[in-house]
Amino acid sequence: MASCYCKISLLFVSLVVASSILAAPWAESQQPPGDPVGVSTYGLITGVLYCSPNGNVNGSSTPVFPNASVQLQCGVMAIAASVTNRSGAFLMMLDPMQFQLMDPISNCRLITITPLSSCNANLPSNGLLVSTLHSYGGIMVSDSVSVTHFIPVGFSLVSSS
Ligand SMILES: *[C@@H]1O[C@H](CO)[C@@H](O)[C@H](O)[C@H]1NC(C)=O
Ligand SMILES: *[C@@H]1O[C@H](CO)[C@@H](O)[C@H](O)[C@H]1NC(C)=O
Ligand SMILES: *[C@@H]1O[C@H](CO)[C@@H](O)[C@H](O)[C@H]1NC(C)=O
Repeated sequence: MASCYCKISLLFVSLVVASSILAAPWAESQQPPGDPVGVSTYGLITGVLYCSPNGNVNGSSTPVFPNASVQLQCGVMAIAASVTNRSGAFLMMLDPMQFQLMDPISNCRLITITPLSSCNANLPSNGLLVSTLHSYGGIMVSDSVSVTHFIPVGFSLVSSS
């Protein structure tokens, strides 16, 4: 999992570096453009998980939730996975093949597999932190590569059956 995270981070870093040279960002509120012929669109999902009863930030002193396994579930399938780093941050990169086959906003959600009690023993040891996604805009990395960015809407603790 850790090496997977690094690989993904590296890819992301290189995309960001490339995009800072070639970027033509579009506004957050705009729909990401459809895939014109010859353009490969990657999906990027980032977020920060907090060690709080609902996994969200609540004031500047909310501690983060490191080492938490986060999955992207679309329908009943886990499509991608990540582990939060020391800053509570996670990142998932979806390649164009994966990305084309899914509908991140209506059919996918982030699920934290690691119980909240692992970051704070006073927090629940059962239940899963779950969030749907919303689009956070995107960038044209080059004439043939674009990245559409998604972030969690906000986590909530749901009971695991
Ligand atoms: C945020 O923190 C405040 C003060 O600790 C608390 O009263 C409030 O219920 C918290 N809100 C959420 C959504 O957890
Ligand atoms: C996170 O995991 C790393 C490696 O497994 C470990 O060294 C570290 O102590 C863990 N940190 C926390 C806060 O659990
Ligand atoms: C965690 O990941 C985020 C986003 O990739 C990065 O900005 C941050 O520096 C990382 N923190 C640590 C402690 O590695």
